[in-house]
Amino acid sequence: MNNDRPLADRIALVTGASRGIGRAAALGLAEAGAHVIATARTQGGLEALDDEIFAATGAHATLVPLDIRNGDGVDQLGGQIFVRWGRLDILVSAAGDLGQLTPTAHLEPRTFERAVAVNLTANFRLIRALEPLLRKSDAGRAVFLTTGVAREPRPFFSAYGASKAGLDNLVSAWADELAHTSVRTVLLSPGPMRTRMRAAAFPGEDASTLPAPEALVPDLIDLVRGDREPPAYFRFGASS
Ligand SMILES: NC(=O)c1ccc[n+]([C@@H]2O[C@H](COP(=O)([O-])OP(=O)(O)OC[C@H]3O[C@@H](n4cnc5c(N)ncnc54)[C@H](OP(=O)(O)O)[C@@H]3O)[C@@H](O)[C@H]2O)c1
Repeated sequence: MNNDRPLADRIALVTGASRGIGRAAALGLAEAGAHVIATARTQGGLEALDDEIFAATGAHATLVPLDIRNGDGVDQLGGQIFVRWGRLDILVSAAGDLGQLTPTAHLEPRTFERAVAVNLTANFRLIRALEPLLRKSDAGRAVFLTTGVAREPRPFFSAYGASKAGLDNLVSAWADELAHTSVRTVLLSPGPMRTRMRAAAFPGEDASTLPAPEALVPDLIDLVRGDREPPAYFRFGASS
C-alpha cells in the first residue's frame, strides 16, 4: 500500500461536505487518494470544496447537492453510485443539525423533527440505500459523526442529544448485523471542533482555543482504511 495515498482507488461518500468536519473529511480523504462524492445542500460550498480538492490532487470530486432529509434522493444517490462504480468503500456521515438549545418543553415541534430527520432518519436512509454497495467493497467502512451528549445528556440539548442517541443505537445494532461481513462501522465523537455548529452552540466561546476540523483527518484515515480493524466507537483526542 502507498503510504502517501493509503486510500488510492477507494470510493468515498461524504455528507455534510459543504463546511466544517465534513468539508475537512472530504478534502483529507481526497488527498489520501480516494475519489470523493460530496453532498450537502449548499452548492457553493461543494464547489469551493471541489476547487480545493482539484488544487491539491489534480482530480475532481463528484458533487451531489441534496437535502439529506430527502429519502428518495438518498435512494437515487445509491443507485447512481451503483451504476457508476458498482460499490462504495467509505461513507463519512457528517451532516448534522443542532436543533435549538432551549428547554425541552419550549422546543418548536418542527425544530425537533428537523434534528431527528437529519441526525437519525437520514442515517437510516443512508444505511438502507448503501449497505448493498458497502458489502460490494472488499472492506467497506461507514463512519457516523456523533457526540458525547448522546451518552451524557445535557440540559437544553435534548433535540440534538436524543437524535444522536438514536443514531448511536441505530449504528450499534447495524454493526452487530454486519459482524460476519467485511463492512465495519464507526461512531466518531469528535469533541469540540472549530465549526459553525460549535459556534452556534457556544457563542461566547473563544473559537481559537478549539482544534480545526482538519485535526481529525489523520485519525479518520486510519478509521476508514481497509487494512485496519477500526473500533466501533472512537472519541477524538481520547488517549485510548
Ligand atoms: N463541531 C463540533 O464541535 C462537533 C462536536 C460533536 C459532534 N459534531 C458532529 O459533527 C458533524 C459535523 O458538524 P460540524 O460542526 O462540521 O457542523 P457544521 O459546520 O454546521 O456543518 C454541518 C454540515 O451538515 C450539513 N447539513 C445540515 N443539514 C443538512 C440537510 N438537511 N441536508 C444536507 N446536509 C445538511 C451542512 O450542509 P448544508 O447546510 O450545505 O446542507 C454542513 O455541511 C455533525 O454531525 C455534528 O453533530 C460536531
